[in-house]
Amino acid sequence: MPLVSTRQLLDEAAKGGYGVGAFNVNNMEQIQAIMEAAKDTNSPVIIQASRGARAYAQDNYLYHLMLAAAELYPQIPLSMHLDHGNSFETCKSAIELGFTSVMMDGSLKPDGKTPATFEENVEVTKKVVDFSHERGISVEGEIGVLGGVEDGHGAGGTGLEHLTDPDQAVEFAERTGVDSLAVAIGTSHGAYKFTKKPDGSVLKMELVIAIHKRLPKTHLVMHGSSSVPKDLQDIINQYGGKLKPTWGVPVEEIQLGIRNGVRKVNVDTDSRLAITGAIRKVFVEQPEKFDPRDYLKPARAAMQKVIALRMTQFGQAGHAGDYKAISIADMAKGYANGTLSTKPEVSAK
Ligand code: 13P
Repeated sequence: MPLVSTRQLLDEAAKGGYGVGAFNVNNMEQIQAIMEAAKDTNSPVIIQASRGARAYAQDNYLYHLMLAAAELYPQIPLSMHLDHGNSFETCKSAIELGFTSVMMDGSLKPDGKTPATFEENVEVTKKVVDFSHERGISVEGEIGVLGGVEDGHGAGGTGLEHLTDPDQAVEFAERTGVDSLAVAIGTSHGAYKFTKKPDGSVLKMELVIAIHKRLPKTHLVMHGSSSVPKDLQDIINQYGGKLKPTWGVPVEEIQLGIRNGVRKVNVDTDSRLAITGAIRKVFVEQPEKFDPRDYLKPARAAMQKVIALRMTQFGQAGHAGDYKAISIADMAKGYANGTLSTKPEVSAK
């Protein structure tokens, strides 16, 4: 299957009532781990790269690895998504490279750190939507500001500073025409999200429910959705790592979100933990090894295991064969003739 639009994956997920994991990558082994997990669980999947990943891997390497994935796994609906674009130019360059969807994170100014005003966010997001839809590319916007920092992008903090306001979410969706909406509900990027198992005082799932009530057909996106499982933390620390005690987003909370309009679930940290634990184990147990394959193979396998588990938990498993690819050119026609709606359905308060 050619690379498809994230909009198609999310429309299908809404029909099926499931969520789709969007997994971050920087290199070949991570892409391989995700694709093997998708094959084993028969899952459609979103692979995403941040600006940091694009700089690390270089755009052309990344794009051609993604093309290889699409070629090698023709049965898997796969989209290539830009995570946290900081400006119109960043989104444009991703689209010109071949990404099939972009996130315009206008919640922050182009420095990727300072919260932007609502009007600034609407303006830049709408500009990206117009450019992208003309080309058949889908757009994720963000309203409210997430916590933490990922690959140098983020306002920091706990994620409670700029929670999404449901009324603003409605206005934002109406004025921009985004295909999906990332919401700030107390999650943050990285391993250190919560100091104990989160409850409603720090993880505001009731906000997801409130936003979904107002925007029942809008695809919601949960960022910072790694669960930071204790077993992966333990492997790292058992083999010389120094992670401090920490908690992520429990899978049952993500599943509650999925029952309330969350269609895209962003996961990066869990993959990083799995890889690091596996590599540390080899280094400690077999210090005589020096062939990178001796530690990259177990690292890849460990990531594949956690991704396959998430695919099953998010409900995307088993859905790869549900539909045929819509070409990006046909997506562009759909936006132009209105069969792909960009006007959100809004319910009264
Ligand atoms: P985690 O750090 O929780 O994996 O979040 C990743 C993310 O939201 C990427 O945009």
